[in-house]
Amino acid sequence: MLKDISPDWSGPFTGTIGRGRPRPAVGKAPLPGVALDHEVLIQNGIWGFEHFDIRARSFVLLRSQLMNRFHQPGGRILAVTSTRPGEGKTYVTANLAAALSRIHPTTLIDLDLRRPSIATRFGLTVEHGVEDFLAGDTDWSSTGQRIASGQLTIHGARQSRPDTAEMLASDALREVFASFKALPGAPICIVDTPPILMLDDTNLIARHVDGVLMVIEEGRTRGRDVEEALRLLGTTPVVGSVLNKSLSISKSTVDYAYYDDLKSRRQN
Ligand SMILES: Nc1ncnc2c1ncn2[C@@H]1O[C@H](COP(=O)(O)OP(=O)(O)OP(=O)(O)O)[C@@H](O)[C@H]1O
Ligand SMILES: [Mg+2]
Repeated sequence: MLKDISPDWSGPFTGTIGRGRPRPAVGKAPLPGVALDHEVLIQNGIWGFEHFDIRARSFVLLRSQLMNRFHQPGGRILAVTSTRPGEGKTYVTANLAAALSRIHPTTLIDLDLRRPSIATRFGLTVEHGVEDFLAGDTDWSSTGQRIASGQLTIHGARQSRPDTAEMLASDALREVFASFKALPGAPICIVDTPPILMLDDTNLIARHVDGVLMVIEEGRTRGRDVEEALRLLGTTPVVGSVLNKSLSISKSTVDYAYYDDLKSRRQN
């Protein structure tokens, strides 16, 4: 159940797409495997890879719901968002992708291009970022880092960009997602995004995804902001919500609400 919520980031696009836009080439070349530093992961709050850590439990449950209620009916690309900054989008995205990759091929893309943080959280150095691909400076496969153990590929961003809306509105992103959907093995793509009420970036991303997962911070996210976010998302299905930093569950800090709760909330 969606629980009660108490009330209480320039310039025009100057980059020219030089040298022609490279083809996405999603999943074409085998990518080198990158080893993750366990200590860095734990320090950065990524427990989704852990088998016995109680903090991974919420993400394992969330993973199951995702498989059953999103992937099984045909969902492949999921964007994670929230109304405002700091509500836990990246935390949820990173942990969900980690937990999911233990059982299913998973691709994690950082499309919060104003404040990218996925690579840092995983302790990765980004040579070619998603923003470089969107600017036409590299091909898609060179932005991906396949994690050595497991089934996770991470496309991180290298640096903050001011012209993100122009980049996200380009055909390049559409081609990437179309190619992703054609991959064998039905991998799942999880996308980290900016706060939906702050920028139109998330709405530009939402046009290409199969569903949105809404992160709600208990005691902070405002109900009317969620309503506004749902309105902005329009026809993009909100497939679920995550109640984050929940005070009502003692040991795990994420709770999950079925998509029905958001749908019924929308109708009321
Ligand atoms: N359930 C949680 N338990 C503990 N810490 C958390 C939890 N959720 C988020 N955090 C911490 O809160 C901070 C903000 O979280 P995060 O960066 O994921 O938010 P965000 O919504 O992605 O923010 P932004 O809009 O700036 O990208 C981070 O330091 C993160 O580690
Ligand atoms: Mg974030």
